[in-house]
Amino acid sequence: MGTVVSARVTHNNGSVRHFLHPVQMAEVSDEERIELEYAYDPLFLPSVVPSTDGMWRYKALLPVSDDIVYPLAVGGTPLVSLPGLYASMGCASLWLKDETRSPSGSNKDRATALVIEQALHTGVRVVSCASTGNVAVSLAIGAASANLRAVIFVPAQVSPAKLQLMLLSGATVFKVAEGYETAVALSRQAARMFGWYDRNTGYNPLTLEAKKTVAFEIWEQLGRKFPDVVVVPVGDGVTLNGIVKGFRELMLCGVSGRLPRIIGIQAEGCQPLKLAWENHTRVQMSPARTIADGIAVGLPINATLTLRDIKETAGSFLAVTDEAIRQAITYLAEQCGILAEPAAATVIAGLHQALKTGLVKKDECIVALLTGTGLKNPDYLQPGSNSRAYEVSAHIDHLQSVMRELHF
Ligand SMILES: Cc1ncc(COP(=O)(O)O)c(C=O)c1O
Repeated sequence: MGTVVSARVTHNNGSVRHFLHPVQMAEVSDEERIELEYAYDPLFLPSVVPSTDGMWRYKALLPVSDDIVYPLAVGGTPLVSLPGLYASMGCASLWLKDETRSPSGSNKDRATALVIEQALHTGVRVVSCASTGNVAVSLAIGAASANLRAVIFVPAQVSPAKLQLMLLSGATVFKVAEGYETAVALSRQAARMFGWYDRNTGYNPLTLEAKKTVAFEIWEQLGRKFPDVVVVPVGDGVTLNGIVKGFRELMLCGVSGRLPRIIGIQAEGCQPLKLAWENHTRVQMSPARTIADGIAVGLPINATLTLRDIKETAGSFLAVTDEAIRQAITYLAEQCGILAEPAAATVIAGLHQALKTGLVKKDECIVALLTGTGLKNPDYLQPGSNSRAYEVSAHIDHLQSVMRELHF
């Protein structure tokens, strides 16, 4: 089990406070984000012997007890190298970290697991959050598995398919007409007032703790090596912060290497972080016009930490169009056999752009984080315009003649 000894608290204005104890959410203002710290030691690194414990393999660097009670299997997702992908992109070492294999089909399941694990040990019965969709589905499923109640606040424009999954899993769902940012504020207020356990991404430091485990896995899966570059979709920024925290903690535990450059991908119709990064300005509220609902966040919760992490890793931001996202979805399905949702497919669209402009070199070791499955919202899984099904009669001769026409 990991013992948190201190915490770093960063204000949205960039100022930092250090605490010599594990800070709780209630001790900081809404403008501050908590990063928990451990007494780092090489002994915290996992042994070379593989396990089937998934994310709990890294208990020494997580604030959990030895006895894990969360019922669903989380983490331990595959790092895949697909011939169709690296051949067509011309890359020597290109890997997809396939988080679509998580219980609810997105990387949000790591944070849900850790938050519910804590809730189960403290006797809390209600967990709550606001979400653009995936966090909510994940919390609904996670709460159902642990026999807890989930209360969820979503923007009114939430994907109907994702809403259906939340309801199917028994969550109480509130649709907020004013959008995601207002849903977050309302859910935080309600959690405080009614004593629910607040899973809100970024505010609850456990969300960052859980998300860092993906970096531990990438490092192990690459043979205990860091990649040169990691490509990550960015909404609130916590996924990106988690990856960077994970690599940093490996170094604090004695692993030698250089922090990978992180390339954060936003959608052109919602790119507050990319614009702030490019123009050296504060993050301004942006409209959220994109099919990539997972990253349609006009005012990212972890903006300050995300800009800091991109700078510290010598990384960068890119923005991709909805058209490029659609092409990436088709490409992933056709060339790789992977069904991705729009927010996840942005990493492929972004990587194409990064390779073209030379931001990423073809001989580098590249990992793209595939954060969510397309199966939750099949509307976007559209085959290419030349794809169609062929009608045949029950005679093998007819089948043969159709096949000849197709030059099969
Ligand atoms: C599929 C998917 N990818 C990426 C993200 C972005 O993660 P973050 O908000 O932590 O930046 C989200 C957020 O909901 C998501 O659902």
